[in-house]
Amino acid sequence: MVKICCIGAGYVGGPTMAVIAFKCPAIEVAVVDISVARIAAWNKVEKHVSEADIIFVSVNTPTKTRGLGAGKAADLTYWESAARMIADVAKNDKIVVEKSTVPVKTAEAIEKILTHNSNGIKYQILSNPEFLAEGTAIRDLFNPDRVLIGGRETPGGQKAIQALKEVYAHWVPEDRIICTNLWSAELSKLAANAFLAQRISSVNAMSALCEATGADVTQVSHAVGKDTRVGSKFLNASVGFGGSCFQKDILSLVYICECNGLKEVANYWKQVIQVNDYQKNRFVNRVVSSMFNTVSGKKIAILGFAFKKDTGDTRETPAIDVCKGLLGDNANLSIYDPQVTEDQIRKDLSMRKFDWDNPIHLQPMSPTVMKQLSVVWDAYAATKGAHGLCLLTEWDEFKTLDFKKIYDNMQKPAFVFDGRNIIDEQKLREIGFIVYSIGKPL
Ligand code: NAD
Ligand code: UGA
Repeated sequence: MVKICCIGAGYVGGPTMAVIAFKCPAIEVAVVDISVARIAAWNKVEKHVSEADIIFVSVNTPTKTRGLGAGKAADLTYWESAARMIADVAKNDKIVVEKSTVPVKTAEAIEKILTHNSNGIKYQILSNPEFLAEGTAIRDLFNPDRVLIGGRETPGGQKAIQALKEVYAHWVPEDRIICTNLWSAELSKLAANAFLAQRISSVNAMSALCEATGADVTQVSHAVGKDTRVGSKFLNASVGFGGSCFQKDILSLVYICECNGLKEVANYWKQVIQVNDYQKNRFVNRVVSSMFNTVSGKKIAILGFAFKKDTGDTRETPAIDVCKGLLGDNANLSIYDPQVTEDQIRKDLSMRKFDWDNPIHLQPMSPTVMKQLSVVWDAYAATKGAHGLCLLTEWDEFKTLDFKKIYDNMQKPAFVFDGRNIIDEQKLREIGFIVYSIGKPL
């Protein structure tokens, strides 16, 4: 029986291994983690690593915040410690699978760590990046657009690719399993996220021009996306993209370009993040300027804090920057999100933001500012007595709110700023709201 072990029981490791276990009854799958809270229910870390034939490494690879490359480069501390642990406990030859998103050429470094500590054990490193999105993880894993496996172009490397391919072949059609060399697989993951994020920044840049000219960004993206060469997915204008990966992975790509002397290429991709920051700032400025240039002392309801619907994840959520911007202008915020806890929101808003282009740390939020903040468990409580309402996550439940009731309980004029373009503007205007959507005429 083949044994698989996955190091890292997070958003990727947990669901991916659950699907492999479900689809491949003949394979024994274990998931291990260093987080006591996460692992309490799982088995002992080292035993499974030492016995497994295939080890997936799905540990976090955040942006470095100190030292060389701080603010851009990927922090591979967790990866390296996982690799060293594998080397320490291994008892048989192993295939080590890079599941985490890593800079191109990471496999070479991992190979060095493993082979220099090998005690005669043979390792093959494969790159098998994950393309699932949060909120649709299981669906994406069951029915992936493609599975990408990169390995060495040696007989040993090809044999390892074949072994991993056989695992996926239990449920993924063969023509969707792409096999490449190691560096192509590593780079394709960064490239895929950069391309996806670039579409959002492109449509968001257009949204600013739409607001200036009277065009409607929804109509523009529909018309553009109908061209089959462009495609219609991922062209929704928004308050900005968030999530743990887009920004991190583009910064990593930028850093790799810079290290390779490719300044123009680095600057090109940097723009994707700059436009995203611009979009979040633009949103805050629009709220303040339309509310008579001041939100000081005014209650503003924030509906949605997660970076997208159907997840409680707040990593890099645009809500953080929007809320900080409004708090900075002295607004009183009342925040509601169906899945994010008050603790998480307060933690996110009190954390210092790393300025990646100009590596200085911004000041943490003062205790007085934190008092301008309340977190409630209902959209109606959040909007009661508010001057304005900002919709920051596209939760389905926000589409069916009783906006008449909300309007009646708000200060007048009552403003709505829809950062996700999900509400029926016409209907809200008829109720009496002043409505601002992204990239749409007033
Ligand atoms: P996560 O932070 O949710 O999970 C990582 C887990 O690894 C944590 O629980 C941590 O405790 C554990 N860990 C760290 N070092 C360890 C060690 N030495 N031994 C055992 N456990 C260790 O992160 P995630 O969202 O699952 O992302 C993991 C990787 O997958 C990242 O590289 C990310 O870029 C990539 N990725 C994430 C997504 C996503 O949707 N979240 C999608 C595709 C790819
Ligand atoms: C993204 C990718 O979609 C996955 O393929 C990838 O595996 C993953 O990153 C990763 O590497 O971590 P995820 O971040 O979970 O997945 O979520 P997305 O659905 O891509 O949304 C990212 C952000 O973009 C969200 O804030 C979302 O609201 C925003 N978005 C998305 C838009 O503003 N407009 C769109 O048209 C689409």
